[in-house]
Amino acid sequence: MNYENILSEHSNGITTITINRPKKLNALNRATIQELHDAFEAADTDGDTKVIIITGSGEKAFVAGADISEFADFNVEEGGDLAAQGHEILFDFVANLSTPVIAAVNGFALGGGLELAMASHFRLASDNAKMGLPEVSLGVIPGYGGTQRLPQLVGKGRAMEMIMTAGMIDANKALSYGLVNHVVPQEELLPLAEKIASKIMRNSSVAIAEAIGAINANYDDGVNGFEVEIEAFGNCFGTEDFVEGTTAFLEKRKADFPGK
Ligand code: COA
Repeated sequence: MNYENILSEHSNGITTITINRPKKLNALNRATIQELHDAFEAADTDGDTKVIIITGSGEKAFVAGADISEFADFNVEEGGDLAAQGHEILFDFVANLSTPVIAAVNGFALGGGLELAMASHFRLASDNAKMGLPEVSLGVIPGYGGTQRLPQLVGKGRAMEMIMTAGMIDANKALSYGLVNHVVPQEELLPLAEKIASKIMRNSSVAIAEAIGAINANYDDGVNGFEVEIEAFGNCFGTEDFVEGTTAFLEKRKADFPGK
């Protein structure tokens, strides 16, 4: 598929999606959000992709936020619609994908950029990365899940401070907050993401999909995550991957999962 604002490349089970508007610091305009949806959906359903890596082009930014020029003249209704559509098309969509999504945060991840990284299943950062939710400095609040996912990841007090001050934290602080799992020099960021992806790919993709659903259930209002886990656990027993995984263990060989 041809995209104008992103690149999507597939190699050895990994689809790397790169947001490619470096002159605008990869800001998320409407067209980019739609293309990201299409690329994530294509990767999730192509049958070959075992892990998706999302990153930004250039050395400066992952994503510097939603494209401010697109919503500066919106009214109350348009603002609400913007957030609702963003959740549906991209942010909740990514969070609930059954293919693992790793965000490789290669520079500024601000506003919608940090929200996209937080919707991903986990995050790595380069040592030049800076992260924040600066929306209140524009007279608005985070609208793509930031008020919910930031406290889930870093705790309520830190999220309150970050959102109220509109400030940025550097990669090492993000690491100490648990917002990112690893920090490396920029040139090592994608190699590290690929190394972690290859570890993930050794395991059962159907079991991983069940695990993502069960972990996410912990954050779904009115859902008992333990019950979701019990059902997901049971589902695994009906898969070819389970037969292969347990048989391989008992036969003292490496499992070769069919992914079914
Ligand atoms: N929306 C639209 N355009 C953006 C953008 C955004 N969120 N972030 C950056 N850009 C554009 C700038 O307008 C500029 O475009 P121009 O060259 O046509 O003037 C270009 O990207 C480069 O940004 P610039 O501000 O010149 O870079 P900088 O190095 O001086 O500053 C930032 C970098 C990230 C600190 C600064 O761009 C910034 O504060 N961006 C907005 C962050 C934000 O508030 N995001 C939340 C949005 S809800």
